[in-house]
Amino acid sequence: MKFIVFILSVILSGPAMAQQPAPSGIPDTLEQRVKPCTICHGDEDRAGRDAYYPRIAGKPAGYLFNQLRNFRDGKRYYQAMAILLENLSDEYLLEIAQYFASLKYPYPEPAVNTLSSAEIQSMETLIHSGDPGRDIPACSACHGKALMGVKPYIPSLLGLPHAYVAAQFGGWRNGGIMRGQTPDCMSEIAKKLSQEEVNALAMWLPAQPVTGESAEMEVLSPELVQRCQTIFSREGFPQ
Ligand code: HEC
Ligand code: HEC
Repeated sequence: MKFIVFILSVILSGPAMAQQPAPSGIPDTLEQRVKPCTICHGDEDRAGRDAYYPRIAGKPAGYLFNQLRNFRDGKRYYQAMAILLENLSDEYLLEIAQYFASLKYPYPEPAVNTLSSAEIQSMETLIHSGDPGRDIPACSACHGKALMGVKPYIPSLLGLPHAYVAAQFGGWRNGGIMRGQTPDCMSEIAKKLSQEEVNALAMWLPAQPVTGESAEMEVLSPELVQRCQTIFSREGFPQ
C-alpha cells in the first residue's frame, strides 16, 4: 500500500516538482494530475454503498481546501492521503479543491431506510429544529435548508455513505487523531449528541434523496457565523 501511494504521489506532484517535462502524449493538466485521487474519490460508486470513501465532487471549495490542509498538516488523519498531500503547497491544494468543487458527478440512489417511525420523527426534529435545551442548533440552520451545504465552508450532508458519516461523528466525539483535534462548532455539536442519535443520523442521512443546491453565507445567522469563527476566519481561501 505504502509503495503504491508513493507512486501516486509522484504523479500528483507532476513534472513541475520532478523538474522534468511531461512524458510525451500525456497532457499535463490538473485533471491528469489528480487521477490518483479519483481511484478512491471517483465518479461512480465503486465499492458500493457501504464504502468508506466520501464523495468530494461538488462540495464547497473552501471546505475541501480546509480538509486538504488538515490532512496534510496532521489535523485530520488518513494515511494514504497524508502521504499524497505531504509537501504540496497551499496554492496547489486550493487549485485541487476548486477543481473538485466544480465537478458535477451524479449522486447515488438513497439507501433503504430501516429506522422506526419514532426514530425518523426524532431525526427530523433534530435536523430541522435542533434541541435548544442542549444548545444544539438545527442541522439545517448551518448546512442549509436542503442540507446541501453553504458555500464556501460548510459541506452537504447528503449523498455520503453510512460508514463514512458514522466514522466522522466517532472522530469528533472521541477527539482522536481522525478528526476534531482542534475543536470547532461541528465537533462541539457532535459531542452533545447521544450514541443513539449518532447511529440514527448515520442511517437517516444516507437514506435521503439528493436534491437542491448549496446555499450562500447570507443564510447563516450572525450567531451561527460567530459559533463557527475558527473555520470561517481561517486564512488562505480567496473571498
Ligand atoms: C486510498 C484512497 C484515497 C486516495 C488515493 C485519496 N483519498 Fe481522499 N479520502 C479517502 C478517505 C477514506 C477519506 C475519509 C477519511 C476520514 O474519514 O477522515 C478521504 C477524505 C477526503 C476529503 C475530505 C472529504 C470530506 O467530505 O470531508 C477530501 C477533500 C479528499 N479526501 C480529497 C482527496 C484528494 C484531493 C486526493 C488526491 C490528492 C485524495 N483525496 C486521495 C481516501 C482516499
Ligand atoms: C453551527 C453550525 C453547524 C451546525 C448546527 C451543524 N453543523 Fe455540521 N458542520 C458544520 C461545519 C462548519 C462543518 C465543516 C467542519 C470542518 O470544516 O471540518 C460541518 C461538517 C459536518 C459533517 C462532515 C461532512 C463531510 O463531508 O465530512 C457532517 C456529517 C455534519 N456536519 C453533520 C451535521 C449534523 C447531522 C448536524 C445536526 C445534528 C450538524 N452537522 C449541525 C457546521 C454545523
